[in-house]
Amino acid sequence: MSNILVIDDEQGIRTVLKEVLEDEAHHVDLAEDGFQGLLVLETEPVDVVILDVWLPNMGGIDVLKKIKKEYPDIEVIIISGHANIKVAVQAVKIGAFDFLEKPLSLDKTITVVENALKLEELKKENRNLKASLFLEDEMIGSSQQLMKVRELISQSAQSDSRIFILGENGTGKELVAKEIHRQSRRANAPFIEVNCASIPETLIESELFGHERGAFTNAFSRRKGKFELADRGTLFLDEIADMSLSTQAKVLRVLQELKFERIGGEESVSVDVRLISATNKRIEDEIREGRFREDLFFRINVIPIYVPPLRGRISDLEDLTAYFMEKFKKASENEPKKFSKPAMEILRCYPWPGNIRELKNFIERVNIMTEERIISPETVRDNLSLREEREIDDLLGRFGSMKLIQARDEFEREYLLKKLKENQNNISKTSNFIGITPSNLHNKIKKFGIELKR
Ligand SMILES: Nc1ncnc2c1ncn2[C@@H]1O[C@H](COP(=O)(O)OP(=O)(O)OP(=O)(O)O)[C@@H](O)[C@H]1O
Ligand SMILES: [Mg+2]
Repeated sequence: MSNILVIDDEQGIRTVLKEVLEDEAHHVDLAEDGFQGLLVLETEPVDVVILDVWLPNMGGIDVLKKIKKEYPDIEVIIISGHANIKVAVQAVKIGAFDFLEKPLSLDKTITVVENALKLEELKKENRNLKASLFLEDEMIGSSQQLMKVRELISQSAQSDSRIFILGENGTGKELVAKEIHRQSRRANAPFIEVNCASIPETLIESELFGHERGAFTNAFSRRKGKFELADRGTLFLDEIADMSLSTQAKVLRVLQELKFERIGGEESVSVDVRLISATNKRIEDEIREGRFREDLFFRINVIPIYVPPLRGRISDLEDLTAYFMEKFKKASENEPKKFSKPAMEILRCYPWPGNIRELKNFIERVNIMTEERIISPETVRDNLSLREEREIDDLLGRFGSMKLIQARDEFEREYLLKKLKENQNNISKTSNFIGITPSNLHNKIKKFGIELKR
C-alpha cells in the first residue's frame, strides 16, 4: 500500500481524489493548505503528494520547494487550472513529477500517480542496491555453528517477530541484525540503529521518541525519534542491557502499544517497527541482579539468536583470514598475503577474546606492519600483542578494584614480604636492595604489621 497526500483547498477535489485513490488501495491523507500539508509530512510516511498550485497562505510553488528540499524522495504531482498552466510548467522545472489539469480526468490522475509511485520505488531500489554494493559486511564462515545462525536468520527474517541477539564482543551481532533486515520484507525501509550504551541518560528519551519544538531548552524544532525514523523498517537496539531502569520502563510501555508521545507533546504517534535487540552482557545475570527488567526481557526475546565466539567455531578462521587478507592487501599487491602453517597454528590456538573484530584488526595491522608474503610465527606473535594489555591486567589483578591508597598499601605490604623473604628477613640486606634506610624499613614493618619469623 502506498501513501498519498492531497493538498488542495477545494473540498470537492479532496473528496473525489480520496475516493478514487482509496479504490486503488492507496492510503490517502488530506490537507487544506500548505501548512497543514507540511505538518502531515512530518508525521506520516508519504510517497506521493498531489498539490494544488493555487493555495491560500503559502502558494503551491513554495510548498513544492519546501517538500523537495526536506523530502527529496517524495514525488509531487501538481494540479492546476487552465489559467495558471504556466506556473505548473515552472513547477515541473523545479522538480515536480508532472501536472494534472482541471477539470481532473480520473483515468489520467490514476496513471500519473502510478507512474510517480513507480519512480519513487525505483529510486529506493537504486539506493538500496548502492548501499549493498558498498556494504562491507558480508557474513563469512561455514562452520556448523555459523550455519545454524544463518538458518535462524532466514527462518525469522520474514516474520515480524522480535529478535534478541546474544554473544560476546565482536562476534558479529550487528552483522546478524543487518542481515535479518536485508532478508525481511522491510528491506527497502530504513534500518535504524540505537546504541543504548553511548547515549547519555538525559538524552535517550528524546533520541528514542523525539521531541516537540520547545520541549526543553535547545529544542528549537521538532525532531523525530528513532522509533519514528524506523517506521515501516527495523529498529536495532544495540547494547540494550546498558539502558537505565527508567528508560527500560518507557521502552516497555512503547513496545506494548507501539504508540508513544514525543517529549513535550500530547499527540500520540504510532509506528510500525520490527524490533531487534542485542547485548554482550549475560542477560540472566543482569535480570537476577535487578539491572534489567524481566518483563522487558520477555517482550524483546521472542526469538533468541546466539552468535558463538570465534574460539568455539575455529574452523571459520581460515575463511575469515583469507577474506580479511584480500580486503586489507595493499593497492600495489596482486596477491594477498598468507600465513605460514606454524603461524596459522598460533592463530588457531589463540583465544580471540575480541572475536572477529579482533581478528579483523589484527589482519589489517599485519598488512601494514610487514612485507612478508608468507607470514611467519614471529610476526604473528609480535602483532598479536594484546599480550601487553593482558599482562597489565594480570598485574593489576585484585588491585584493579581498589582505591589508590588501599592498592598502594596492599602492594607495598606484599612487596616487602616478598623481598624480606628473599633476603631471609635480613633488614640491612633488604633495605639495601629496595633502596630505603633500615629505620625506614623498620617503620614500614610496624605499619603493615609484618611478623618477622626466621
Ligand atoms: N562472519 C563474519 N564475516 C565477516 N565479517 C564479520 C563476521 N562477523 C563479524 N564480522 C566483522 O567483525 C566486526 C565486528 O562485528 P559486529 O560489529 O557485528 O560485532 P558485535 O557482536 O556487534 O560486537 P560488539 O558486541 O562489540 O558490538 C565488524 O567489522 C563485522 O563486519
Ligand atoms: Mg555491536
